[in-house]
Amino acid sequence: MSRKRIIAGNWKMNMTPSEAVKLVEELKPLVVNDDVDVVYCVPAIDIVPVVEAVKGTNVQVGAENFYIEDKGAYTGEISAPMLVDAGVKYVIIGHSERRDYFKEDDTFLNKKVKKAIEAGLTPILCCGESLEQRELGVTMDWIRLQIKSDLAGVASDDVKKLVIAYEPIWAIGTGKTATSDQAQEVCKGIRDLIAEIYDAPTAEAVRIQYGGSMNAGNAAELLAKPDIDGGLIGGASLKAEFGQVVNA
Ligand code: PGA
Repeated sequence: MSRKRIIAGNWKMNMTPSEAVKLVEELKPLVVNDDVDVVYCVPAIDIVPVVEAVKGTNVQVGAENFYIEDKGAYTGEISAPMLVDAGVKYVIIGHSERRDYFKEDDTFLNKKVKKAIEAGLTPILCCGESLEQRELGVTMDWIRLQIKSDLAGVASDDVKKLVIAYEPIWAIGTGKTATSDQAQEVCKGIRDLIAEIYDAPTAEAVRIQYGGSMNAGNAAELLAKPDIDGGLIGGASLKAEFGQVVNA
């Protein structure tokens, strides 16, 4: 298995530009690890100072959002080419908070995935079920629907470079982590789905993260699972603990 692990922080709506630079400096000695891709997905206003602050380190910068047009009259929005020009490499797409609070549906997310790829950004495509869906036993049906819709028309060569984050909504920010077996089961389900839609080499190449209250205490067990290639970390990415997750 040749997939490189990827640990990404999702800062969400936290850190002013000056706080962001301080956090990057604090984390610098703690996240050194050549075996892992380390990414900070930061608020738009923090991108420029964070790209500057991580220069010369192993850390790459991601965005949390963008709009699907390249430029024009879209007051308040930021385009994929703007992110690329600023030095951004990754972008989170389809996080449950954006699906829920900002009503981003799969048709729109499919356009975002295609635009990100066209611009040269690596999507971190999120999917995941609610507690109600898990209890109803429709977790994998729901995730199949999300992934199939979000990747419609995306070529296998592009899917190989993609990152998919499995984030059970009930585990996000709740301190309630999926067990490593639950997380592995769904991550394997996602890989099997990619094999079904595309082929085995594509499924072998795509990197699948787990996200949802991942922290220094549970990261090693989750990352030991064969289909979990990394983590998307919210709360624990805003403190020194993130270094322990990277090195787990
Ligand atoms: P959490 O967030 O680690 O705070 O649960 C994860 C995420 O929403 O990406």
